[in-house]
Amino acid sequence: MTVTVFSPAKINLYLAVTGRRPDGFHDLVSVVSTLDYGDELTATLVPAGEGAKFRLECDRTDVPLDESNLILRAARAFAEATGWPGPGDALAVSFQLTKRIPVGAGLGGGSSNAVAALRCLGRLHPDALTGARLEAVAATLGSDCALFLRNAPVIIRGRGERVELLPAAAVERLRGQRLLLFKPSFGISTPWAYGRMAAEAPRHYCPPDEAEERLAVWLRSRGSLADLLFNNMEGVAFGKHLALPVLLEKLRRKFGVSVRMSGSGSACFALVEDRPATVVTGMEQTIRESWGDGVFIKDVRLG
Ligand code: C5P
Repeated sequence: MTVTVFSPAKINLYLAVTGRRPDGFHDLVSVVSTLDYGDELTATLVPAGEGAKFRLECDRTDVPLDESNLILRAARAFAEATGWPGPGDALAVSFQLTKRIPVGAGLGGGSSNAVAALRCLGRLHPDALTGARLEAVAATLGSDCALFLRNAPVIIRGRGERVELLPAAAVERLRGQRLLLFKPSFGISTPWAYGRMAAEAPRHYCPPDEAEERLAVWLRSRGSLADLLFNNMEGVAFGKHLALPVLLEKLRRKFGVSVRMSGSGSACFALVEDRPATVVTGMEQTIRESWGDGVFIKDVRLG
């Protein structure tokens, strides 16, 4: 038996990191949407044989396939929570990952893959892990896992585990909007970016009241998606990687587009919903000229 699950990327349209918590994580207020772009994860039930209970293959060589991979950690967490497949079962699960989401991008690839693994196992062994138990297991795997359990744009709070659906009127302003997603050849480590936030605090933190008020103003208003865009993690990323602010400013000036970095970076995005094809092609050319051939560029839509 084989099942296949889409494992979407996410972007943070609004990200206000408000401060460091006693547990070392950061509190944030963020509006997040999945994209129509992502990885694909297939899981096949195979005879257990001599090998491990969970096996993983990937079409790319730069993805770690050991225990550090969130797919295998998710599978192990599923087995611990449900007892399936148990030591006595003659079954193993073989995962095949088709990786398209760049790593170190702030696009949630690892957390998305973890949730995709839980979904695959949930289809191979239905009813084993649902509702609050599923959410609890997902939360142990990564801060972004909770948002991937919803198939809708959401507001996340806390370290990302408190998820609220975005009101319908706001969803209308987001759904299906076209973006140009682009990332330089280098990635940014999430722990590094949050570590810099803590080291440079309070310069970059957004006070919690201000974070909520900014979002509330947008929710009340008839403002466009462009009016929502905010990311106070840009300060630390831009301080180290000057290529990011230089290009974003160039795109704003030359094409009049709204551009932001997603999450802790290094991926960025531009809103291109009503832009003619010539403008989008011109933007792609500018991005390639600035960041070189190793650049990742994708024309995507919000999920
Ligand atoms: O939860 P996740 O594995 O995605 O987080 C990676 C790292 O990013 C954490 O170990 C922590 O250093 C930092 N982080 C944080 N606050 C968050 C999310 C992540 O400080 N809300």
